[in-house]
Amino acid sequence: MYKVLLVESDSDFQKLFSLNLNAYIGAHTVQSQSSEDAILSLDNDEEGIDLIICRYKLGEEIVTQEIVDYLNDSMQIIPVLSMGDMQQEYQGVTAINGNDWKEVIRESAKILEVTSKKMMEHNESLDQFFAIPIENLASVDTEVCDVDVFIYESDNFDQIIEKGEPFPFILIEEMTGSGIELLYVKKNDRLKFINQMTANILMALRDPNISEDKEITLSGVAFDTVRDMLELSGMTDVAIELANESVNSMVKLVNQTDPLFALLEKIKKNTGSYLYQHSVLIAAIAHHIVLKMDWGSQEHANKICFIAMFHDICLENDEQAKINSQIALSRSDLSPRDKKLVEQHALKASMLIKANPKAPYGADSIILQHHGKLNGIGFSNELNSSLSQLAIVFVVAEDYCERIISIEPEFFKRENVMNAMKRKFHKGMYLKVVEALETMGL
Ligand SMILES: [Fe+2]
Ligand SMILES: [Fe+2]
Repeated sequence: MYKVLLVESDSDFQKLFSLNLNAYIGAHTVQSQSSEDAILSLDNDEEGIDLIICRYKLGEEIVTQEIVDYLNDSMQIIPVLSMGDMQQEYQGVTAINGNDWKEVIRESAKILEVTSKKMMEHNESLDQFFAIPIENLASVDTEVCDVDVFIYESDNFDQIIEKGEPFPFILIEEMTGSGIELLYVKKNDRLKFINQMTANILMALRDPNISEDKEITLSGVAFDTVRDMLELSGMTDVAIELANESVNSMVKLVNQTDPLFALLEKIKKNTGSYLYQHSVLIAAIAHHIVLKMDWGSQEHANKICFIAMFHDICLENDEQAKINSQIALSRSDLSPRDKKLVEQHALKASMLIKANPKAPYGADSIILQHHGKLNGIGFSNELNSSLSQLAIVFVVAEDYCERIISIEPEFFKRENVMNAMKRKFHKGMYLKVVEALETMGL
């Protein structure tokens, strides 16, 4: 098993990272709060650390610098992943922009050369069970556990929770109290379990005084987790609850920050993902437009944020998400399978949403129409006037948001953009929406 030394002072991030490093690359995480702490661990380590993941800066301390100095002085070579804006380059250090945790997992896998093939072999060597350190689950309290859970006692795996049963906080506390360190799930269940636990941890973090940076990071983690959960377990209640949670923090964020470029800057600090960036921006733009329309209510505004979050949820990557017309789709280099996925992504997402009664009423039909087609297949070239009003707001908002993301702020001429949009959306409700957008300082 790989051993990763994590230098992170925030205990919530510690939990999220170690759970996911464990599940995705089969690594065991050694925690440390500061560079001093980390150096102590390195000094006392006998089995060998395979990778160090740290924040570039914790408080005033430049952690990466301290770690690199220590490694050089002690003549050790251990790869380092450094999160956050690095002020200078170091040999052997890979920089991760901001707090992009998925990127951390991907880069870790690359450095440790955990290819999917190796991961499969790793899976096979795992026996039937996969171990999860219980300390990472300290704040978890689940009403319906998605998988069977076991403990290992006197050479036996004892099932303590059956799929569908609650997994209460008190039970975890009891187990910790009686010295149990590891829980086990069947190896095929591990990603499902980890995503459910991640969702749970994220939902436990409803702190009204949370810092804005942390809120943005957590909302990004929630976005990724919801996507993974949908893929692994479908639209469960936990996924919907987490989605709503993350939509709420999106709404909060969107209301705090006025200029869109400032908002985009903040999100970019945390993730390089276009899928996430454009979802948040659409939420921001559409939310404001809806409230400007004479028919728009707060309920509509919240609904459209939910829709923004889910509209492209069935797409797998940024390349697919950037395709916005039938021509772009046919000209793209995507494989036939991927083209079909892009063609049907609105329909698929809408079916997923429809399957859960806890999703906002009618959100599925807006998602179905988000590329201008009533059947959710392909992209419309025309201004389809039979779309619902919210869908029209969405189409215009997405168009505006693509223009913002694709250009550097200093080259952005709002007047030109507005004129181009008025030419494109030249009639009916479409034009009304563009006009509403024009009156706002976004
Ligand atoms: Fe989109
Ligand atoms: Fe889309």
